[in-house]
Amino acid sequence: IPLQAFNTFRIVAKAQALARITSEADVHQLLADPEWAASPKFVLGGGSNIVLTGDVKPLVLKVEVRGLKVVGETAKSVIVEAGAGENWHDFVTWTLDQNLPGMENMALIPGTVGASPVQNVGAYGVELQDRFDSLDAIDLLTGQVFTLNAAQCAFGYRDSVFKHASSGEADMHLPLGLKDRALILRVRFALPKVWKPVLGYADIERKMAEHGVTEPTARQIYDWVCEVRRAKLPDPAVIGNAGSFFKNPTVTAEQCEDIIARDPKVVHYRLDNGSVKLAAGWLIDSCGWKGKSVGQAGVYEKQALVLVNRGAGVDGNGATGGEVMTLAKAIQTSVYERFGILLEPEPVVI
Ligand code: EPU
Repeated sequence: IPLQAFNTFRIVAKAQALARITSEADVHQLLADPEWAASPKFVLGGGSNIVLTGDVKPLVLKVEVRGLKVVGETAKSVIVEAGAGENWHDFVTWTLDQNLPGMENMALIPGTVGASPVQNVGAYGVELQDRFDSLDAIDLLTGQVFTLNAAQCAFGYRDSVFKHASSGEADMHLPLGLKDRALILRVRFALPKVWKPVLGYADIERKMAEHGVTEPTARQIYDWVCEVRRAKLPDPAVIGNAGSFFKNPTVTAEQCEDIIARDPKVVHYRLDNGSVKLAAGWLIDSCGWKGKSVGQAGVYEKQALVLVNRGAGVDGNGATGGEVMTLAKAIQTSVYERFGILLEPEPVVI
């Protein structure tokens, strides 16, 4: 089964088997077959955060659980629930259409709702964990459906329990890692009843100044985030990519002073705990990578943190996962040699 249409990098690769999952009943049916129950599994959402470096041997579970609804409220929030297979941006748009602001800063992030907790997606000052309520998932070993709250998801910067390997034991009371073990079915979000815009990001502040607005509405922020993203991030429907390819690294204050002494322009943000976050895009850009390529894999011209597939129009004509990884390693080496920082890839390499 060709996977090119199922990964936003548009890398050509095949799966030996693929099952579409529209509900937990589909998972139960699959697990009832001893052969499928025993086979290793790989959960696929929108394919917007993966790099395929070869054919996929595990059974691919393509999550297509649908549904968008308001399910309850607390004193401070309205709780909405979305099926894991829903498109993330359509979900964000739906919340605004329901007059439930709070998700607007995360508009236009590629991928599905079910994939969003895996890497704790975020943009323009808001992360999934800031709006997360709970999720339902199904244990692929036992078929048991379970619910996790935010603490149990162990969210970090572009990180969660779903990115860490599981022990493989049948008993799963205190999950250390749920990678390839759990399939997320539904995610619930808590949207604030008293809404305040999250501002402070240069790109958004610029839009406010441009429009002469000091108190923007959620809809305005949504529109501006869409405009900013369209202007500097490639649309995966046109140019294959997986968003930011590396995480923004964190260094100690001393390391940062050292870098500033050599490169006064380094883009950095001081964190509350005293450490400093550096803009990986700037580090890569200043090593001269913008617009460079390895085969058909390239560094995006307008944002050096994004690697793109330059020729994915026709099968066999685009970048291979190997080319993407060769380019990524070359970037890591040159950033390491110049700044002494090892950039960590953001997408899951398969
Ligand atoms: N910069 C450069 N050259 C470049 C790219 C960036 O100098 O080629 C500088 C920019 O001028 C800016 C700074 O680096 O001062 C940061 O760039 P930007 O605001 O574009 O954000 P980012 O740190 O590159 C992060 C997230 C994005 C998210 C944006 C906005 C990560 C790994 N990436 O990017 O998330 O949309 O902030 O909040 O944290 C993603 O994770 O896939 C993603 C796109």
